[in-house]
Amino acid sequence: MTDIITLNKLEKVFGNEKGLDDLSFRVKKGEIFGFLGPSGAGKTTTIKILTGQLRPTSGQADVFDVPSTKVNIPKHLKRIGVMTDTSGLYQRLSVYDNLRLYADLYGISQKDNRIDKVLEIVNLTEAGKKQVAKLSKGMTQRVLLARAFLHEPELLFLDEPTAALDPANSQHIHDGLRELNKKGTTIFLTTHDMYEAELLCDRVAFLNKGSVQLLGVPKALRRQYSDNTITVELSGGEKKILSKGPESAQDMYDWLKMGAVESVYTNEPTLGDIFVDLTGRELV
Ligand SMILES: Nc1ncnc2c1ncn2[C@@H]1O[C@H](COP(=O)(O)OP(=O)(O)OP(=O)(O)O)[C@@H](O)[C@H]1O
Ligand SMILES: [Mg+2]
Repeated sequence: MTDIITLNKLEKVFGNEKGLDDLSFRVKKGEIFGFLGPSGAGKTTTIKILTGQLRPTSGQADVFDVPSTKVNIPKHLKRIGVMTDTSGLYQRLSVYDNLRLYADLYGISQKDNRIDKVLEIVNLTEAGKKQVAKLSKGMTQRVLLARAFLHEPELLFLDEPTAALDPANSQHIHDGLRELNKKGTTIFLTTHDMYEAELLCDRVAFLNKGSVQLLGVPKALRRQYSDNTITVELSGGEKKILSKGPESAQDMYDWLKMGAVESVYTNEPTLGDIFVDLTGRELV
């Protein structure tokens, strides 16, 4: 698979503080890539560099084989969608008119009801006529999301897309993002939420203090960091921890035969556990 984003030894210095430090990784075309890290790790800074809003201090960042410093022109920007913060909407216009304005900018015709379609994806069909100034925080966030993928970009950057949303809306948006991804949009998203990362992402990178500490497929990472044990919960509440090997077979057999097994689960760590293990820091 070809790479759509390449970062090589990227560094960003703010005054005397390093925002990014020796940051290198690649994002493949077609994947949903999760960028995980605690507050201040450098997630937003990375997106700003990749979308041409900030210049790196040193190193190289390429998007579609174009240096990020040159991506900020209409020809390339048309291929990208970005949601980084909660500003930039016309407060006095309705949700629909805000999106119409962008649709016109992108030359999206009114014929194929694209605006209605994206409003449906972000669960705002009912709110189309509402003035943006009167929306809740979560609704505003969903309008910004809708705006970011209105033009079905090849590459979509989402900075904590579900941060202010309730679980039902988050799930609705996850479904929408999966659908968009199936149609060919590569998605780069940041999150503090390890469950979101696991549910949605093909690969994740753990960012800490400006550089990547670990990168991989969520399921594989969890297996890699697993201690290869299972917990068997017996009726009566007792919990037994067993290795996954044949040496546990007799115990399991006996308990099952007695009908004493309530539940069995593997003891794989969550992505959050792995992050704490590696960095000594919590993800949130
Ligand atoms: N414009 C700026 N001027 C000075 N320092 C900055 C600037 N932008 C970011 N930083 C610093 O760079 C580091 C990374 O910030 P960034 O916003 O990228 O973190 P983040 O991972 O997005 O955090 P959060 O999860 O809170 O959004 C922080 O220490 C921050 O203080
Ligand atoms: Mg941020």
